[in-house]
Amino acid sequence: MKISVLGSGYVGTTAAACLAELGHEVTAIDIDEEVVASLNAGEAPIHEPGLDELLTAHAGGNLTATIDYGVVPETDVTFMALATPSKPDGSIETSIIESAATSLGEAIAGKPSTHQVVVKSTVVPGTTENVIAPRIADAAGEDFEISMNPEFLREGSAVMDFQEPDKIVLGAETDRARETMRAVYEPLVARVATNVVETGIREAEMIKYANNAVLAAKISTMNEIGNICKEYGVDAYEVADAVGLDSRIGRAFLDSGVGWGGSCFPKDVTALITAAREVGYDPSLLDAVVEVNEKQPRRMLELLDEHTDVGDERVAVLGLAFKPGTDDVRESRAIPIIEGLRERGASVVGYDPVATGNMRKRFPDIEYAGSAGEALDGAAAAMVVTEWDEFAALDDEFDRMADPVVVDGRRIVSRRDGLVYEGLTW
Ligand code: UDX
Repeated sequence: MKISVLGSGYVGTTAAACLAELGHEVTAIDIDEEVVASLNAGEAPIHEPGLDELLTAHAGGNLTATIDYGVVPETDVTFMALATPSKPDGSIETSIIESAATSLGEAIAGKPSTHQVVVKSTVVPGTTENVIAPRIADAAGEDFEISMNPEFLREGSAVMDFQEPDKIVLGAETDRARETMRAVYEPLVARVATNVVETGIREAEMIKYANNAVLAAKISTMNEIGNICKEYGVDAYEVADAVGLDSRIGRAFLDSGVGWGGSCFPKDVTALITAAREVGYDPSLLDAVVEVNEKQPRRMLELLDEHTDVGDERVAVLGLAFKPGTDDVRESRAIPIIEGLRERGASVVGYDPVATGNMRKRFPDIEYAGSAGEALDGAAAAMVVTEWDEFAALDDEFDRMADPVVVDGRRIVSRRDGLVYEGLTW
């Protein structure tokens, strides 16, 4: 099939490359000329394992990129993979996807055959039908079909998640739109065993939010249990290992610690809370899911306070990315930790194997070290915020500290003699 993908961010680029790998003829469309040039050169504009290889294989062949919406009518289907960032009140900002919908409508106006539009962006129920479709219709009239296909990609394994998904959710209201999406995914379904869930458009929109809300709630629940475990001197990870053996629960996303961050969980849980309030429902559980998450960095700082006063002292923050395997620092728990340390008058030195550049944009005036050992040199304390494997192998590096106080927010550091070790939830 001939597919155009609007938006070459994280989701759009991964989808475009993976759809090309499935054998489709794909055109990626973005307003950013640099991103377009990078895609055409076969280079990923984002850091994601396996993506460069796919782009190298398909760029210039069945994958091209352009800033020109003029190519849209030559394609059968358009995926909309535009960002829906948070507004200050927590609701989603739809202006980017709305203006793309207008451009899309203008592009397909006059197309002799019915164009198929698939919304991949994360949008609250009703947005596809009440916000996006009318913008397209304003310019193109009613001769197009629209459907919704949410994504569940994780940073760091996005390509694998696309190619071997737990599920593919196809939200449509007409047989024709459903048939189109089946045809897009047919080569993938033929290749791997997966669940194809066919549903209505609003259900598809909600499934994405529900998915992220349940996962975030799972972590917050275990963080709350971990906090209680800590008070009782109980090992929260032994508890999680046993609880996770219940097939109704599962072990994934039961790692307690300093909490969840990233580009999705915080934005999506908040958007769902705001959307619920807009329709008059008070989402008390989801409020608590967020509250527990905000509490964790504060608890980590309080644990530090119990051991030492870090005013005017050097404190190492090990791990700046929101999780290992990515250079993304969006909503990283390192941010409230750094802020809390600075409020206490500490001199912060951050270290991360890949995310230093991004955190430097957020905190240009703290020190950044080239290695964990360098960050620990002369430090009165260390706060471990991301579970990079290398932090499990730290040993003599701790001897470089002025005081050996380590507060571990991810249960990654190996305890050793001489180390004053404090786990966050165990
Ligand atoms: C998430 C969803 O998993 C994905 O399906 C969706 O499409 C986008 O949002 P991502 O943000 O890439 O993906 O990260 P994920 O691996 O889910 O981790 C999110 C956060 O939860 C990280 O900060 C991680 O450290 C934290 N986490 C995860 C925990 O604190 N404990 C756990 O047990 C698991």
